[in-house]
Order: sequence, then C-alpha cells, then structure tokens
Amino acid sequence: MVYRRIFDDAITRLKDERRYRVFVDLERDAGAFPRALWRRGEGLPREVTIWCSNDYLCMGRHPEVIAAMSEAAARHGVGSGGTRNISGTNHPLVELEAELAGLHGKEAALVFTSGWISNLATISTIGDLLPNCLILSDQLNHNSMIEGVRRSKAERQIFRHNDLAHLEELLAKAGPERAKLIVFESLYSMNGDIALVGQIADLAKRYNAMTYMDEVHAVGLYGPHGGGIAERDGVMDRIDVIEGTLAKGFGTLGGYIAASEAIVDAVRSYAPSFIFTTALPPAVAAAAKAAVGFLKQRQGAELRAQHQRQSMLTKHALSAAGLPVMANPSHIVPVLVGDAELCKAATDMLLERHSIYIQPINYPTVAKGSERLRITPTPLHSDAHVAELVEALVDVWQSLKLPFVEQPKIIEFRREAEAHCTYPEMKRAAE
Ligand SMILES: Cc1ncc(COP(=O)(O)O)c(C=O)c1O
Repeated sequence: MVYRRIFDDAITRLKDERRYRVFVDLERDAGAFPRALWRRGEGLPREVTIWCSNDYLCMGRHPEVIAAMSEAAARHGVGSGGTRNISGTNHPLVELEAELAGLHGKEAALVFTSGWISNLATISTIGDLLPNCLILSDQLNHNSMIEGVRRSKAERQIFRHNDLAHLEELLAKAGPERAKLIVFESLYSMNGDIALVGQIADLAKRYNAMTYMDEVHAVGLYGPHGGGIAERDGVMDRIDVIEGTLAKGFGTLGGYIAASEAIVDAVRSYAPSFIFTTALPPAVAAAAKAAVGFLKQRQGAELRAQHQRQSMLTKHALSAAGLPVMANPSHIVPVLVGDAELCKAATDMLLERHSIYIQPINYPTVAKGSERLRITPTPLHSDAHVAELVEALVDVWQSLKLPFVEQPKIIEFRREAEAHCTYPEMKRAAE
C-alpha cells in the first residue's frame, strides 16, 4: 500500500472537479479594514480590499471588543483550562450565555466552540431525545445542520427550499402525534434569501412540531437589538431553538443556542461535542459579550443601518452596470458566473489586476451551474470602495467575456426590501 498516493489521488480528483480550495494568506489591519495585506509566499506583500468577509459589521476590529478581549486575557489568561465540566466554565462565558439568552428572549443559552458544532450537537441531541422523531429539514440547510440531522437516529425528510406547501404536506402526513422537528435557516447565506419565519411557526403550531432555526447570518445584523430575523419579525417566542454564531455579526469565535431551560439543560447534558471539548477561553467570551452588548444599543442600530445602506448601494451599483446580481432581500450580494473555471478566473483577475479579494463560490457549496461571487459589503466599505468594485468587475466581465444582463434584476429585491425594512437608511437606499 502506497499511502501517499491515496492522498495525492484524492487531491487530484478535487482539482479535476474544480473543487480544490486555495487559501489567500491575509494580514488584516484592525485600523484599516477592509484593506489588508495579501502575503504572497516569496513575493512582496500587497495591499488588497477584502469584499468577502463574514465579519459583517466589522466587530472583529471594534475598539470596545478589542479592549474587552485584551482586558480579559490580561486578567484571566488566554485559555479556559478545561471542558465545561472540568474547570473550563469561566465567568465571562457564563455572563455571555446570560447576555445571549436575553438577546433572544429565551430562558437560557449555551455556548459552543463554533456555530458548526452548535448545529451538529443540538440537532442530533434533540433528534435522539424525541421518541420516534421525524426531522423535516430545508433542502438548502448548511452542512453543519445536515451533519446534525444525519448523526441523530431520527428519520429525516427534506422539504423543498422555503416551500411551505411542501413542508405542510410532510407535516400533515406525519400526523399530530408524532414528534417532529423543523430545521431551517432564517437567512440563507449563499442566495441571501430569507425564510418566512412566522409562517413556519404557524405551521409548527398547527401540526404540533418543534422549530429549530439557524440565525448564523442574521444575528447582530437584523432586529432592533440585533436579535436576528426572528426579532425583526417579532416571532422570537414562537421559535423553540434559535442558533447563532459569535464569529460573523459578533466578530469573534464560537456558536450558541438560545432556548428553554429544559432544552438547554438536555443538550448540555447529552451532547458529546459539547461535553468532551475544551470551553471557549474567557477572553473570547468577554469580547463576544462586548460585541453583543454594543449591538443591542442605539449605536448598534446605526451600524446595522450603515451596513444595510452599503449593501443596497453595492447591489444597485453592480446591477446598474449590468452585472448579474442575484436578487434577494438581504445584505448578501451574490453575482452569478455559472461556471467553476470562469468563477475562479474572475476572482484571480480581481485579485491580481485590481487588488480586490473575493473568494469564488463553487460546487459543493452551491449547485453546479450556479457558481458565483459572494460579495459582503460592510459598514466600512465606503462609497468610493463600491465605485472601485464596480469598475473592477466590469473590467473582469469584459476581459473574460462573461455575459452582462440588460434588465437589472434588482427590482424584485427592492420590493421585498421595502416590505421588510426597519431602518430609514435602508428605505432611502431602496428607493
Ligand atoms: C448557516 C450556517 N450555519 C452555521 C455555520 C457555522 O458557523 P461557524 O462559522 O461559527 O462555525 C455557518 C458557517 O458559515 C453557516 O453558514
């Protein structure tokens, strides 16, 4: 057995399928975001503009968050020293859980080492604890939710993406007596579309099902206090488990669930991926708590408004230039390429020629034929940055002979944005 060859062949297969991932070595500058240094091996580093960060609100470089982390590290040290059960339950982590429970209007919250682990741990545990459980899972759910569904002993059925008629059909078929868990996301990060959360909660009530909602791409970003889409839509109390990350809108690291005391206690007590791993360090917990606290306040609402404004502006500017922006009502700006090789070529050209960094999104993250650039404006992307981006993308589209669209598709998105919008700035940008 030539072990080495097996790994080499595995990588060759990925390369043949255009699925091989190349990481860009970045040195972020807290004072200059979205500018960063691109470290290019032997070559001289080059300044680039990041357009694909999930640090959506730039909380990862916010002075109050940095101060909270530095103070906690100096005071408590940098590690947690153990699992939650064996000396790792540090006080900042306990405080963070209380803050998160409050944010989502729930009795309790539980913090995990990542959002990925929160989904895996919670969905599989609930699925195992509910007798003869049927999990109904949205077709476009994130990998971490799929892993949670797969690892549980529950039966699973997939409903077509955001198709409530299909979901209802499956709920009705299962009958009111059977334990059922509906698993879905509030905001799907690759398309940027938003679930009809209230209507899913209605269905859950009608058919006596539990609801589990991933708000990873919405917490911090939506709702008057950053509680996500459920807060924006006034339905937090109608979702049994809200799951979020600390790594995107809150700019740090870790994941969590917020739910009833009974659910949180059960997951805490049964989930191996929660129990048998080292707890989050106190400095990370303190930084996350500072970010959550900041975003709950008026200044947080202003940052959200600025974020929405820059996202809308980017969508409109790209769309007006004839670029194929995929319509959606959120802050995500997907631009369709539709071919893996061209998608990679476009992002290489953006980086090399224009010093703009956008990671290509290819299969299996999105379906083949729907390869895209996923652009994520932040409050720190200025109008001048947006203008630079438009110019660079038009050049890349022309150089690679990618198709422009004649009828900008932004119209549909604008209508939805207006219907949902909570911020005056957002309304103005949508007009
Ligand atoms: C919908 C969704 N859920 C969960 C996660 C995992 O979150 P984390 O990055 O905190 O592990 C991601 C990551 O991108 C995601 O997109």
